[in-house]
Amino acid sequence: MIRESHIENIHRRLIERIEILGAISSSAESLTRVFLSKEMDIASRLIQSWMNTAGLVSNIDPFQNVIGSWPSNTAKAPSIHIGSHYDTVVEAGKYDGVLGVLLSIGAIELLQAEGYAPKHHINALAFCDEEGVRFQTTFLGSSLLCGAFDDSALDKVDSEGMSMREAFLARGFNPDNIAHIAPIIGGDDVFLEAHIEQGPVLEASGHPLGVVTAVAAQTRIGVAATGKAGHAGTTPHDLRTDALACAAEMILAVEHFALARPEVKATVGKLEISPNASNAIPGRADFSIDFRAPDLGRLRELKIDLLREIESIAERRSIKIDIQNIQETSHANCDPVVTKLISGAVAANTGQVTELFSGAGHDAMKIAETCRIGMLFVRCQDGLSHHPDEFAESSDILEALRSMADIIKRVDQNAFAHM
Ligand code: GLV
Ligand code: MN
Ligand code: MN
Repeated sequence: MIRESHIENIHRRLIERIEILGAISSSAESLTRVFLSKEMDIASRLIQSWMNTAGLVSNIDPFQNVIGSWPSNTAKAPSIHIGSHYDTVVEAGKYDGVLGVLLSIGAIELLQAEGYAPKHHINALAFCDEEGVRFQTTFLGSSLLCGAFDDSALDKVDSEGMSMREAFLARGFNPDNIAHIAPIIGGDDVFLEAHIEQGPVLEASGHPLGVVTAVAAQTRIGVAATGKAGHAGTTPHDLRTDALACAAEMILAVEHFALARPEVKATVGKLEISPNASNAIPGRADFSIDFRAPDLGRLRELKIDLLREIESIAERRSIKIDIQNIQETSHANCDPVVTKLISGAVAANTGQVTELFSGAGHDAMKIAETCRIGMLFVRCQDGLSHHPDEFAESSDILEALRSMADIIKRVDQNAFAHM
């Protein structure tokens, strides 16, 4: 039995660590921390030091994944991996990803303080790139660790024109060696991820914690619309091929498409135009479409319809378009056995269980391709995320901490057929 003062200390440290990581940013005004950056180096070393303090044997891999291991006495036992990501979006909140990383370390500290001896290997994982901000590719860290990293990502280029391959080389790592990094997740393992909900369901239900049943399929599309730049004062309107006006019509079509289909989310979050001068007709507009639906089959069907609309707008306006499929990740179902164990722990700790679906993407959805997953959501204020005002109550985080420790124990004792 663990003393309350011990739980209080671990909880207090966890809250402090959220603030510490929340200050490690490439921008002085807000929180932005992206793949293979020096801010990620600083954050990774801190996370590693906290894993070491928790008694884990830790290392940082060439992707900046931080891995902390608590081995079982049974060498051949499968592993229970617990974690999330510690990269951020641009102008991010402090809790997205980081809360799950810190809860994994905190829950392990709790179990160790209790003298718990796991039957399975336990790993705390902090993934380097879930958001895909720098190279427009998501789940890089979790893909690597579950053996699903796609080498073609190395040719992707960031906004400064540097390829991922060059970014690795600049850090002294030859990406040809990626093939030699052995995956550590898969097979009979279980992956557990805690995350802020990033939506309003838990707040509306009045429950601090939720149990995730499935995660939506998602795709990212890049659209490049090319018209002809020209003089803003002299070119008659009927002779213009204005790439931005065309993109504007397309962006509204994307919004209308989603408004007409409640199961879909479609967002244009990024737009760049050229020459971007107030007295020049825009000759080129590049924008992203983030498109999500409950399952991959439906996502693909609807994407064909959406792109047909985009193409017909381009044709009517005599604009040339180039459409790139940047990324696609299947929906993922949480494992029913693991989910039941999570629900049992949440019910025992909070007296209530809310099951919910995740529209946000998570490393767990990538990992679901190789092993069973389960997810716990923590209520966040106003359902707000990907925003500096993102906030989760300290008391909800305490509930999550106790529940995560209980979840790990229940999974350790009940989720494996051979036990
Ligand atoms: C990740 O936060 C995503 O859902 O885009
Ligand atoms: Mn996010
Ligand atoms: Mn996240």
